[in-house]
Amino acid sequence: MAENFFLEMEHISKTFPGAKVLDDIELRIRPGEVRALMGENGAGKSTLIKILGGIYQMDAGGQIKIEGRPVGIRSVGDARAQGISIIHQEISLADNMTVFDNLFMGREIMGSSKLFLDDRKMVSDAQATIDKMDIDVDVRTLVKNLSIAKQQMVEISRALMFNARLIVMDEPTSSLTEIEIEQLFQQIDRLRRAGIAVIYISHRMEEIFRVADSVTVLRDGRLIGTRPVRELSRDELIAMMVGRKLSEIYGKSGENRIGDVCLEVRGFRNARLNDVSFSLRRGEVLGFAGLVGAGRSELARAIFGIDRREHGELLLNGRPVKIAHPADAIRHGIGFVPENRKLEGLFLTNTLRYNMTLPILHRFMGFVGVNRKKEMSIVDKYVHELSIRMTGVDQLVNYLSGGNQQKVVVSKWLLTDEIPNDPARRATQEEILLLASGGNANEDNA
Ligand SMILES: Nc1ncnc2c1ncn2[C@@H]1O[C@H](COP(=O)(O)OP(=O)(O)O)[C@@H](O)[C@H]1O
Ligand SMILES: [Mg+2]
Repeated sequence: MAENFFLEMEHISKTFPGAKVLDDIELRIRPGEVRALMGENGAGKSTLIKILGGIYQMDAGGQIKIEGRPVGIRSVGDARAQGISIIHQEISLADNMTVFDNLFMGREIMGSSKLFLDDRKMVSDAQATIDKMDIDVDVRTLVKNLSIAKQQMVEISRALMFNARLIVMDEPTSSLTEIEIEQLFQQIDRLRRAGIAVIYISHRMEEIFRVADSVTVLRDGRLIGTRPVRELSRDELIAMMVGRKLSEIYGKSGENRIGDVCLEVRGFRNARLNDVSFSLRRGEVLGFAGLVGAGRSELARAIFGIDRREHGELLLNGRPVKIAHPADAIRHGIGFVPENRKLEGLFLTNTLRYNMTLPILHRFMGFVGVNRKKEMSIVDKYVHELSIRMTGVDQLVNYLSGGNQQKVVVSKWLLTDEIPNDPARRATQEEILLLASGGNANEDNA
């Protein structure tokens, strides 16, 4: 039976030096289908998409067909010529240029003299495209002055101007608010009605059930399966992604015991906080919800001693403590994983091992330098405990996926446990980790 597919990818494998990250993947998409591509961080989703988009070349033996015809995709231009547009995790617009310049980049309209660009025509055509999408953007604005959500809308418009038949969105909602996410979903519904196929990458369960027709799951570079969304339960989908049943992951209920109050914040107040109080128990995971700008990160920064507070008290195990500086917080066993881990937490062009052990490197110093064996055994332990996906401990942090970068930051804090006698940790046995997530209240992996 000849089925009507827009895209068929067959036997797709990808080997980076020393690591096979995709192994014999296949993917078939119909026109107007919204397909979620899911899998844990490091599963290979972005790599597969970069092959489709002409950024990476696949290993020999694979094949890509568009409407049944084999095609070669060796560049972004090739992909675009086949009607494939990709909106990558990092926005790829030129942010110092206007929206209309971006929409017309590479295909500017010349005026009748053929000497000058016809700006007026470009502005009106671009504005018409934007208006058709029902979004409130003036095409003469510089891209950098638009919110991330609007930049994404501009990217979708640009794809439409290139007559895209398939638009891929790689984790598009990671820095959007709830309202912006819903607006994006409405655009996706629109694309579906127009017969344009969408591949939607995300690891957020509720989004998949809202927006996708079908789901393809990858795990460790292998294809686990493709299923229609309406036949799939949340638990089944998680089991496909992680390869175990939920009950095996979280253990039986009651296994995590919540203890006494260990941290108390009373009446925190500063420029961004207005009388914030809460208490946290040992073993408890406390989430702070709120819109962007509500003060969640500011609260974490005030607790950790980055931002000043004008008023308020902090108690650890019932005793008031003074935290005027991050060093004070660290001494009391409080760690901080900032929102912008790329800038604040990691040395991206160094290895995973370097990043993990840097804060405690002096502990492995013998008379003849660093005791590599001891260092490695501790690194191995945390890589295993946090299931960090990597090609090896000497992989550059740059090449880890976002979630795995975050795990490295967390492990840096947990590692300080390995040094009970360190003067930096002498005050208490406390361990409180402040995690700031990407500006969104519905992180699955909070
Ligand atoms: N340029 C690269 N060089 C080496 N390894 C890479 C490169 N890009 C990705 N990887 C590795 O490939 C694997 C899959 O990564 P990726 O496709 O980004 O996963 P996902 O998007 O599902 O989180 C990861 O282990 C990652 O470290
Ligand atoms: Mg990715």
